[in-house]
Amino acid sequence: MKFTDLVRTRRMTRAFLSQPIGDEMLRSLIDLAMRSPSAGKTQGTHYVVLTGDDVAEFWNDTLPLDKRATFRWKQLLDAPVIILPFVDPLAYVARYAEPDKQATGLGEGVHAWPTPYWTVDGSFAVMSLLLAVHDAGLGALFFAVFNGEQQLRTRLGVPEHMQLLGAIAIGHAVQNDETGRSATRSRMSIDDAIHQSRW
Ligand SMILES: Cc1cc2nc3c(=O)[nH]c(=O)nc-3n(C[C@H](O)[C@H](O)[C@H](O)COP(=O)(O)O)c2cc1C
Repeated sequence: MKFTDLVRTRRMTRAFLSQPIGDEMLRSLIDLAMRSPSAGKTQGTHYVVLTGDDVAEFWNDTLPLDKRATFRWKQLLDAPVIILPFVDPLAYVARYAEPDKQATGLGEGVHAWPTPYWTVDGSFAVMSLLLAVHDAGLGALFFAVFNGEQQLRTRLGVPEHMQLLGAIAIGHAVQNDETGRSATRSRMSIDDAIHQSRW
């Protein structure tokens, strides 16, 4: 697909078929995500890939049974893949303590960073992943992990300092998927977004 069409037609998918996605496909999607820029080429984004029974365990941790009956996106649970993007703040602190970055002062600790580049880089990578998924003819939803994060992390053995950005469900999209609550909001006009020459 042409890049402009890819960007224009990407939408979040909230209803999936359970049809599995092959490991090779998943690796190629993550390979594309990993080509995103990263500050100081720190490359501090990691991906926990859940398939098969691991996906059911993810939902057991993060969507309590009592909330499931009223959960609006029932077919979100059919997604065959969940990818958890984690970012590593300490990798950035260590990289910026190296001689070529030392003058920035950012090697002093996470609190020295006015903008957390680990979040920026991880977000760039997630965006590339979403576009790669769309380009592959699949659907994806980036969503928040509101419940059970600690239980999930403990079960998966995630190091304490790693920050979870959210979760990405991936799979074949159900056609005519109901749109999200926010989808009816109008798209911001380009003139509201651009502040020409000054705010
Ligand atoms: C940081 C972030 C968090 C989001 N969290 C959720 C979420 O928890 N649940 C959900 O259904 N959609 C979530 N979304 C999807 C947005 O609602 C969606 O991107 C927005 O309405 C625009 O729709 P589109 O991406 O289909 O164009 C999230 C998107 C972003 C960027």
